[in-house]
Amino acid sequence: MKKILVIGATGLIGSRFVELANGKFEIIPVDENILDITNKEAVEEYFSTTQLNAVLNFAAFTNVDAAEKERNDTKGLCYKLNVIGVENLAYASKKHNKFLVYISTDFVFEGTVQNPGPYDENEKLPDNMEGISWYGWTKKEAEVKIENARAKSAIVRVAYPFTSGKYDLKLDYAKNYLKLYDDGKLFPIFTDQTITPLYLEDLVAPLSKILEEELQGVFHIVSSDVVTPFDFVEYLLSKARNVEGIVQKGSMEEFLKTPGRTPRPRLGGLKTDITQQKLGMKFRTWKEMVDSFVENL
Ligand SMILES: NC(=O)c1ccc[n+]([C@@H]2O[C@H](COP(=O)([O-])OP(=O)(O)OC[C@H]3O[C@@H](n4cnc5c(N)ncnc54)[C@H](OP(=O)(O)O)[C@@H]3O)[C@@H](O)[C@H]2O)c1
Repeated sequence: MKKILVIGATGLIGSRFVELANGKFEIIPVDENILDITNKEAVEEYFSTTQLNAVLNFAAFTNVDAAEKERNDTKGLCYKLNVIGVENLAYASKKHNKFLVYISTDFVFEGTVQNPGPYDENEKLPDNMEGISWYGWTKKEAEVKIENARAKSAIVRVAYPFTSGKYDLKLDYAKNYLKLYDDGKLFPIFTDQTITPLYLEDLVAPLSKILEEELQGVFHIVSSDVVTPFDFVEYLLSKARNVEGIVQKGSMEEFLKTPGRTPRPRLGGLKTDITQQKLGMKFRTWKEMVDSFVENL
C-alpha cells in the first residue's frame, strides 16, 4: 500500500479526504505542529527521515479577505505558507524523488469579462495581479514554483467545497447557506456569478487515482457543469428545507464595485473534460452533488 504524507490534514478538505481515503493508502497525516512547511530545513529533515511514496498538500492560508490585507507582502504569512511552503515541498519532492500533489483553486484565474471562465486545464495562468485576490495570486505563484522545480507532480484545482462530513472549524459552501437560512440571515444571492462547486465525497476517487498511478499535469475536480450561486441556493433550499422562491437576487458585479472589496472570480468556474478523459471517469453535475449532500444530511 502506498504511503502518502498528507499536509493540511486537519483542514476542511484534507480532513475529509483522510477520513474517506483511509484504507486505500497508508496515510501519514500532519499539520503545522508536526511539520511546518514554511521551514525549509524542517521539510528537508522530514523527507530525509520518513519513508513515503507521495506527498499531498492541502495546507494553505485560505482566508481570502485576511490574505488581502497582506497584498504584495512577500514576508507575510499568506505568501510564506502558500508560496514558500509549497516551493519547499516541491524542491524536497524533486530531491527525494517523491510524487507531489498540490491542491489549488479556481481563484488563480481572474473570472472577468475580459477573460471569463470556465477555464480548462490548459488555460494560461495570468501574468498580472489585476482582478485577482492576493490569496489567488499566491496560489498561482505556487503552481509556477511547482512547474519550475520539475518534481514529478500534479496540480489539482478544486472550488467551492461542500461535504456531508462533520467539520467544526469552518462551514463549507452548502452548510454556510443552510445556516444563514436557518438563522434568518440569508442575504441576496448572486445571479451573475458562475462557479463549479465540489461535493468533497466526489474528490476521493479521482484524487486517489492520481495518487495511485502518479498521474502528472493539471487536473480539475469539480462539478461537470457551472451554476450561479442563486440557482445553487434555490435548489439546495428546495431539497433540504422544502422552501421555494424565497431567495432574493443579488449582483456580484455591483458588490465588487464597493471600494475595499477583495477581488474574486465572477465569471469563473473550471472545465473538467480533459481531466475526465485523462482519468477515464465521469464527474457528476452540481445538482447530482447537492442531491447526495441532502440525502446524507
Ligand atoms: N476551502 C475552499 O473554499 C477552497 C476552495 C478551493 C481550493 N481550496 C484549496 O484547498 C486546500 C485546502 O483548503 P481548506 O479550506 O481545507 O484549508 P483549511 O481548512 O484552511 O486548512 C488549512 C490546513 O493547513 C494547515 N497549515 C497551516 N499552516 C501550516 C504550516 N505552516 N505547515 C503545515 N500545515 C499548515 C492547517 O493546519 P493547522 O490547523 O495546524 O494550522 C490546516 O490543516 C487549500 O490549498 C486551498 O487553497 C480551498
